[in-house]
Amino acid sequence: MSTPNIYVPGLEGIVAAQTKLSKVDGLAGELVIGGFKLETIANKASFEEMVFTLWNGRLPNEKELKDFRKSLAKLRELPEPTLKLLKAIATEKLNMMDALRSAVGTLGLNSPKENQDQWLAQRLLAAFPTVVAAAWRLSHGKRVIAPDPKLGHAANYLYMIEGKAPSAARVRGLETYLNTVIDHGLNASTFTARVIVSTASDFVSAIVGAIGALKGPLHGGAPGPALDMVFEIGDASKAEAVLRKKLAAGERLMGFGHRIYKVRDPRADVLAKAAREFYEADGDMKFYDLVLDVEKVALSMLEEHKPGRNLQTNVEFYTALLLHGLGLPTGIFSPTFAVARVGGWLAHCFEQRAAARLIRPQSQYIGETDKHWIPLESR
Ligand code: COA
Repeated sequence: MSTPNIYVPGLEGIVAAQTKLSKVDGLAGELVIGGFKLETIANKASFEEMVFTLWNGRLPNEKELKDFRKSLAKLRELPEPTLKLLKAIATEKLNMMDALRSAVGTLGLNSPKENQDQWLAQRLLAAFPTVVAAAWRLSHGKRVIAPDPKLGHAANYLYMIEGKAPSAARVRGLETYLNTVIDHGLNASTFTARVIVSTASDFVSAIVGAIGALKGPLHGGAPGPALDMVFEIGDASKAEAVLRKKLAAGERLMGFGHRIYKVRDPRADVLAKAAREFYEADGDMKFYDLVLDVEKVALSMLEEHKPGRNLQTNVEFYTALLLHGLGLPTGIFSPTFAVARVGGWLAHCFEQRAAARLIRPQSQYIGETDKHWIPLESR
């Protein structure tokens, strides 16, 4: 096969995988997940239905969904060594993404030799919310709450964080969020997972790598800082001064801009609608209005800062608004993104396993080629 030998920084525009999982059209501002336009499925499917669809290429029937839920319920509880590790981590005060990455590394314990990929996928998906909730509670000196087998995936997450069964509206809001961000083309963390599986490695290793990639503020770490920015502004009348100062200092406004979308991120629209519905029914409308005012000012500042680049609101901005409304603490915004995205990562792991092709790009050497050896005593 001929090799193009062209260096493309950030691999922008390079196609490195074929997928049936999601289609991101950055110019039209369109996202298709599992064959569905995002807005036709995100606020209807349960998270379990969404994952089943990605893993199997179609919606589950009633029996399949029931069986899938049952299998997850069996794997949701954490093995003792994972709990012990989380307790040790809590005393070290690690950040939540580091806690998640460390604990997830132990989730392959007791995995069967047969159908290992299937088992690990279900174990990882089921146990992610348990790990995050336990890590969060332990780091706040609280006891761990075991999952409730009667509750679904999203409801269990809220239950294990707070200790009480959540309202249907909160579960719906969270499921819409999880469905919206479950998959998004060949983003950095998904690519990482696929590279690891392509070496014929196991799914736990792939997911640990993906968590590491997601942790960075340019990928999954933005919703917390986006919310902090709104808190810092505090009052709409101060928005322009605060944002202008940030831009002048060379800071990026968190929750705006995207590598792929050159128009508004369609996920922002779905989450904006979910947030509006949730806040109108049960939320702090004063805060909601402040966030929308900050968005308006930020967009006009960014147009002034980078004229013609059309920097728009991205998914993280409305994630911050919705998750805050749902009562989730800022410290677990990024791990909550991982609770969703692990469903997509695993779907890509299955797809990459089937593709069975080692991912091995090339580098372009730009160093010297003719250096002279100098003995140690002469250097
Ligand atoms: N605030 C201020 N300036 C921004 C910006 C933001 N949020 N996003 C992009 N820019 C600037 C860049 O610095 C760049 O300026 P330059 O040409 O002088 O270097 C210009 O706009 C074009 O950037 P672009 O190439 O479109 O962005 P990218 O692909 O390098 O980066 C992000 C994409 C997402 C990393 C970037 O928009 C960003 O850092 N956003 C804030 C973090 C965030 O919300 N992340 C979550 C993404 S879902």
